Amino acid sequence: GAVPVITIDGPTASGKGTLASRVAQRLGYHHLDSGALYRACALAAQRAGIAPDDEPALAALAAALPLRFEGGRAWLGTPGEDVTDRLREEAIGQMASQIAALPALRAALLDWQRRCRRAPGLVTDGRDMGTVIFPDAQLKVFLTASAAQRAERRHRQLAAAGVSATLPALLADLEARDARDRSRSSAPLKAAEDARQLDNSALSIEASVEQLLRWWDDAQ
Ligand code: C5P
Repeated sequence: GAVPVITIDGPTASGKGTLASRVAQRLGYHHLDSGALYRACALAAQRAGIAPDDEPALAALAAALPLRFEGGRAWLGTPGEDVTDRLREEAIGQMASQIAALPALRAALLDWQRRCRRAPGLVTDGRDMGTVIFPDAQLKVFLTASAAQRAERRHRQLAAAGVSATLPALLADLEARDARDRSRSSAPLKAAEDARQLDNSALSIEASVEQLLRWWDDAQ
């Protein structure tokens, strides 16, 4: 049969990345953080001086993006600069969300993402993994958490990284980003019809991992 894929989609700071990486580790599968791909495009565009609304230039940049994920780090360019920390910056996330609404850019990233489906399997997280990129995934999960929970988590992550931000500002930012992701016409953020819904507002990361692994067992 086809190489197994588990997709985890959901809004900003819902815990998709941590969950996907833990599940991938438990199963010995590859992990694709598709958000990092959009963020890398944003960073590369910023460096090349490409405006966030220049769709043809952004699509050309994305089609030839020299990006590699290796050893849990993101490498951009040749021979490759470690841009992992830069990709997590709020300004890069904002620009990623803006350019992610452009259909030509999304189309240019399609094959890159599908090529990540390699044996023994893939766990991938993003916004359209189950709806557009891997519609035949063997397990699809739509992960949610209350906006307040998500803002608090983001606040803790930033604080741990030494970045100060106020909770109301973070909440406003999350809500703006999610509204843009849900309302865009190209691959909007929404649950696939055959996705399992998981609200992790009151769940520990371990409990979420166990729930996913149970669903994965059921899907076999
Ligand atoms: O998940 P993360 O915050 O890293 O993603 C950055 C932005 O990239 C999101 O706000 C979203 O607009 C976009 N994105 C997307 N499709 C994906 C993953 C991310 O549109 N599969």
